[in-house]
Amino acid sequence: MAKIVLENLGHSYLSNPKGEHDFALKPVNLTWEDGKTYALLGPSGCGKTTMLNIISGLVPPSHGRLLFDDQDVTSVPTSARNIAQVFQFPVIYSTKTVRQNLAFPLECRGMTPSKIKQRVAEVATLLDLDYALDMPARKLSADQKQLISLGRGLVREDVSAILLDEPLTVIDPQMKFMLRRKLREINRQTGMTMILVTHDQSEAMSFADEIVVMKDGLVQQSGTPEELFSQPQNDFVGYFIGSPPMNMITLEPNLGSLSTEAINLTKPLPAAMPVGNNVSIYQMGIRPEHIVMVDKESDSIGKGTIIKIEHLGVDGVVTLKLPTGVIIKAKTRKHTEMTLGDTFGIRVCKKNALLYIDGTLSSSLN
Ligand SMILES: Nc1ncnc2c1ncn2[C@@H]1O[C@H](COP(=O)(O)OP(=O)(O)OP(=O)(O)O)[C@@H](O)[C@H]1O
Ligand SMILES: [Mg+2]
Repeated sequence: MAKIVLENLGHSYLSNPKGEHDFALKPVNLTWEDGKTYALLGPSGCGKTTMLNIISGLVPPSHGRLLFDDQDVTSVPTSARNIAQVFQFPVIYSTKTVRQNLAFPLECRGMTPSKIKQRVAEVATLLDLDYALDMPARKLSADQKQLISLGRGLVREDVSAILLDEPLTVIDPQMKFMLRRKLREINRQTGMTMILVTHDQSEAMSFADEIVVMKDGLVQQSGTPEELFSQPQNDFVGYFIGSPPMNMITLEPNLGSLSTEAINLTKPLPAAMPVGNNVSIYQMGIRPEHIVMVDKESDSIGKGTIIKIEHLGVDGVVTLKLPTGVIIKAKTRKHTEMTLGDTFGIRVCKKNALLYIDGTLSSSLN
């Protein structure tokens, strides 16, 4: 096991980068604590695999240092890093049995046959693969094959961390759920640090102790699922975390205050903000979960007409159009009692309403 530190770590695949935009991973400082589960989350091409491959040693970084337990491993080869990596598609020997697949990494390290037998049995039990040990690997389903890939990493007792690069992509949704739970269980039992790459926010939220959100090679925010949900540091995190995304409502800076025509909200300008500044964009960020639809207009801050109702099982997502044309989404459990065209009063819980200036979190609107 190891604590992993990224110190001003960045990478450009170009030999002569001209500027920030030439970096697949813009220099970042991050610490991955020993024994926790992490998710690297972001859209395609944002640099997730690049970061993972730098940690495993497959890609030597062009900038900065990588430390395992305070030791500089930036130039240490992959084979000496004790990292297990699981890829999008299972990497297994399909002609070998499950047992032979699991034993192979240990045979390569010259472990004794009796010790190999013991480790393979332990890992097979951990992964619920005991019954399949003597089956040819090719006969197993996609999720079982991914378990073997994982097992080939787990059998080694010297593993510092397990890196998983979209390992659930090839698996159907029900199996995905079970495999994700299995991964968490293995983390609890073995205490191994796990870093899961995904572009699925719900997968990241349900798997990780901490999530690192990336966009265009830049780490946008790193924190617990709760922190990313309740305090998104910018509009991208507000959009990418949560389903549906955070509502962003434009606010107009007037003399000494911020207000919006969309809803009846007037707030004193935060002290540091210049009055009459028409360059910056001011927005209120509010989660659909924090919008309450009420019958009485009198104790609400605006009204909206329902233009769409989506059923998500217990919850529903209701889209409201305000008289100004602004669209707001609200999450509710009363959606089954609602009809298109109904008008409701809108209330927001002020402590959950956040002020964004030019897309960056400034303060609460409370
Ligand atoms: N070997 C390479 N040589 C040159 N450019 C590369 C190489 N690998 C990746 N890139 C570029 O670096 C950027 C980041 O790629 P990366 O594969 O790290 O993204 P990702 O977040 O893993 O994407 P995905 O979700 O599609 O797997 C992309 O612009 C990609 O085209
Ligand atoms: Mg990738």
